[in-house]
Amino acid sequence: MSLNTSWTIEQRYRRLEDISQSERESMTLSRQQDTSFPCYHIAPSFGLLNDPNGLCYFNGEHHIFYQWTPVGPVHGMKYWYHLSTKDFIHFTDHGIGLHPDEDYDSHGVYSGGALVEGDRVLLFFTGNKRDENWNRVPTQCFATMFLNNEIKKNGIIIENEHYTEHFRDPKVWKKDDVYFMVVGAQTQNEKGSMALYESENLLTWQHKGPIKTKYTDLGYMWECPDFFELDGQAVMLFSPQGVQSSDPYDFKNIYSVAYLVGDRLNLSTIELEGHHDILQPDYGFDFYAPQTYLDGSGRRILIAWVGLPDIDTPSVKYQWAGMLSIPRELTLEDGFLIQKPLTELQSLRKEEVVFSQTHKIENGSFLVQLDIEDKEFELELSNLKGERIVFSATRGEFQLDRSEMSHLYAEKFGTVRKAPRLINNQLLEMYVDNSVIEIFINDGKHTMTSRFFIDNLENISIKGIEYAKLFYMDRIDGLYSSLKEN
Ligand code: FRU
Repeated sequence: MSLNTSWTIEQRYRRLEDISQSERESMTLSRQQDTSFPCYHIAPSFGLLNDPNGLCYFNGEHHIFYQWTPVGPVHGMKYWYHLSTKDFIHFTDHGIGLHPDEDYDSHGVYSGGALVEGDRVLLFFTGNKRDENWNRVPTQCFATMFLNNEIKKNGIIIENEHYTEHFRDPKVWKKDDVYFMVVGAQTQNEKGSMALYESENLLTWQHKGPIKTKYTDLGYMWECPDFFELDGQAVMLFSPQGVQSSDPYDFKNIYSVAYLVGDRLNLSTIELEGHHDILQPDYGFDFYAPQTYLDGSGRRILIAWVGLPDIDTPSVKYQWAGMLSIPRELTLEDGFLIQKPLTELQSLRKEEVVFSQTHKIENGSFLVQLDIEDKEFELELSNLKGERIVFSATRGEFQLDRSEMSHLYAEKFGTVRKAPRLINNQLLEMYVDNSVIEIFINDGKHTMTSRFFIDNLENISIKGIEYAKLFYMDRIDGLYSSLKEN
């Protein structure tokens, strides 16, 4: 039985002030003993991290919030935890940005996005409330963040009149002085959809309906919707639930992430016009709820949760769960979203090692670059007991096999993930950080993002290619300063 299921509702919905200082310290201590904790990925000091929220570039800094359950490594009472950074290396920890302290968010401040408006940021979120019969009453709400990073809640702006209780995760943008919002919604006939709203003053919102695409029956819920324009095209990005596929690559996780690229969103017909077939940005085991934002230089940046709802990872026993992906810059090419690690991360690279066959790993945080030309190859991360993960490729496909790790989990959803090899000659990048691997394949058209658990990682070996380049990576700093930890 997973540890998570032994938690009662009362325990999960305890608030931060209900956990004593010594409980917090003991969870932190436990997490500090976990050698699988990452060095250059954002992860919680204790408790559970899920979706990235409120991503924006404001006042010279990138602001990142994430869903946080402080009470333990479980889904329960959700807060927004706030960090900011100028360079993705040094972070300022602002502590909790949004607390569930109103009647309308009494059961959690759920996910949402941000909109920068001059010298303030509007933070949109879902107020998650449960009534006395435990029925969910979701509302879309907003708060304002000022130049000094103080945040004040403004209250409810949209009540749920059209959808089932699954109505959450607002993302707002502005075009020609009009505000638009998409919300992840389940229609009355229990289909996943992206609901569009429009407003001129941010306070009254007109329901325009679910955005029309050719996918009218794709799962029962679309969480964490995002809509943006990129290189003159319109992109819908979302996390559908309840989708399966017999194709060897698509929709293999418990829940997935998908996107549609179209010519434009027609605001009279509420249709994504001229869109291609649905695509998936990631073919790994653990990738969910990605969100994007524009930074000061006009880059569209994506950050995802490396984790999935309803799946426990082995780190649960060390009192923490979940981390954010590295930031990835997005562009569009041939109808695909191209993901590239943000150039800022290059400053994290330390010494470079070029190796053939096997290299004994000094520590578990590194980047591997692999020029695979047109070859078939295999790359293995292993310990002395032979516990390992294997990333390999034939000429037609890539494969990530985690069936022989030290600690298996979620095996019910399979222990192998595959992705098509779209290009023969390519340079691959693999960002490894103790228990996470983010592999950029097909020139960024796909990634394979996964957690993995190997005790005492010892070796990296390659077969089929002559050499690989490895850079050890530095740690990011400042993450836990508000918790008075070193
Ligand atoms: C996605 C999600 C969102 C919700 C949030 C709650 O992982 O379920 O739909 O707002 O997590 O933490």
